[in-house]
Parts: sequence; C-alpha cells; structure tokens
Amino acid sequence: MTERSAAHDAAVTDRSRLAGSAYNGDRDLAARQSLYQWQTPRYDLPGIVAEQLSGVRGRVVDIGCGNGKFIQRLRDDRPELALLGLDIAPGILASVPGPVAVADATRLPLATASVDAALALHMLYHVPGIPQAVRELSRVVARDGAVIVSTNSDRDKAELDDLWQRAAGDVLGTGRGPARISLSARFSLEKAPAFLGEEFGRVETIELPGTITVQDPEPVIAHMASYRAWADQHDVPFEATIERARAILVDHIARHGAFEVTCLGGILICRR
Ligand SMILES: C[S@@+](CC[C@H](N)C(=O)[O-])C[C@H]1O[C@@H](n2cnc3c(N)ncnc32)[C@H](O)[C@@H]1O
Repeated sequence: MTERSAAHDAAVTDRSRLAGSAYNGDRDLAARQSLYQWQTPRYDLPGIVAEQLSGVRGRVVDIGCGNGKFIQRLRDDRPELALLGLDIAPGILASVPGPVAVADATRLPLATASVDAALALHMLYHVPGIPQAVRELSRVVARDGAVIVSTNSDRDKAELDDLWQRAAGDVLGTGRGPARISLSARFSLEKAPAFLGEEFGRVETIELPGTITVQDPEPVIAHMASYRAWADQHDVPFEATIERARAILVDHIARHGAFEVTCLGGILICRR
C-alpha cells in the first residue's frame, strides 16, 4: 500500500471525522443518494432489501443506518418487524424513527444470536477492522438468519473520478491532477465476498449496473462536493476543483446534451 492510500484509508475510517463531519447530519449522504434518481434502470434499493427480508420474522438491526432510508421503508412495508438502527454518528440519527442507538459495528451492543437479520449497507468500508465487524455480524444473527450488505464496485462512477482528475489538473496546471479519495475501495464489490466468506458459507452477489444521465451539472456537483469532509486528503484546493469541474460539465453538456456516469453497485446476501 502506498503512503497516500494508507493515509486515505485512515481518513475514510477516522471515527471523529465520520461522526463529527461526514455524517454529522445527512446533507452529504443525501446528495450522494439523490444522484440515483437520474439512473437508468432505477433500482428501488429499500424495496430490494425488503424483498430479501420477506421470509424474516422478528428482529432486524440496521448497522450504520445513516439517515434511516431503509428503516423508514421497512417500518412502512413490514410494521410487524422489530427494527433497531445503530450508527456511530449521533448527528445523523436525529431524524431516524426510533429505536436507535449510537454503536460501533466492531462492538455491537447485542447478545449473540439475538437478531433474525442484520443490514450493513454501504458502511463496512468505513470500519477500521472489517474482519472484526464481519465477525460481529455473524455473532449477533441467529443460526438461520441473513446478513445483507451493500457496496460499490471499484469501477463505479469512473467518469466522476476522471472529471475530478481533469479539474484538479486544471487547477494545479499539471495536466491530470491527483486522484480523489475513494470511500468504498477498502470494501468494494470485488473485495467484499472474500471478507464475508470468512464467516458465511453462502454469499450471493446481486449486481446493480446502471447509467446516470444528467442535463444539469448541479446533481453531479453536489455529489462531488459531498466529499468535503475529506477535502484535506486531495492535494488540491477542494472548492476550486469543484468550481473547475462545474465549468467542464457545463461545457460538456453544451456540446453533447448530457453527461453520463456509469454505475455499478451491489447487494450481498450472506447466510451460513
Ligand atoms: C454511506 S453511509 C450509509 C448509510 C445507510 N446505511 C445507507 O445505505 O443509506 C455510512 C454510515 O455508516 C456509519 N458508520 C461508519 N462507521 C461506522 C461504524 N464503525 N459503526 C457503525 N456505523 C458506522 C456512518 O456514520 C454513516 O451513517
């Protein structure tokens, strides 16, 4: 691992940065979630998770529940389930319908085999000890229970990485600038099965490929700007790079009518 990626890993998992800045509220998470409204095909992620839980009765815990998008949907669709939301960031839990608690995925405040399903959606890449968190997921879920995990591919939104490097290069006057931080690289769709396979005999991956098409730069700019908690990790002035990216996008859309971003996310269903 290079010095740079080690520093990025430390920043992606730094608890005070996560709880105090990145997920202190849901502005930045909501900007990332909302870009998918321009994706084709559109996936109803909470609906897919609810469907995967159709055979589950009893208790479901959502670890790293964020702004409660999944909990909210499960409350509506499956009111009989006993839902619990856990997150390390108190600020983001404020708007989640309870019960919720502040807790770390590597030390779950739950008894062994005490839940029927656990969710860890787009969050394991933020955990410093991923194998320890996977062991905790396995410990708290009942023998015949399910664990549902999600993350993004290493190839996800490559056009945004490219746009960042072009904009950063323009700001620095260096051609192509340094790469932006990748949040999901530590636990990408490609890496996830090996981590999960340490505890679960069956790991089924459901890939969700798509293309986001925008004719207005702002949703893409809001997505890029949602990395502001990691602005210091970019070796380039963050705001200036965002402004340059906006100008590149305006020009691209004027010439081509739209800007396209290819996406690859996925859900992993884990059973023993
Ligand atoms: C990208 S958001 C995902 C939120 C939600 N699961 C979703 O998919 O919309 C990651 C969430 O995981 C939380 N998180 C990060 N590290 C954690 C940890 N070690 N234990 C519990 N939650 C954590 C963050 O505070 C944040 O709310």
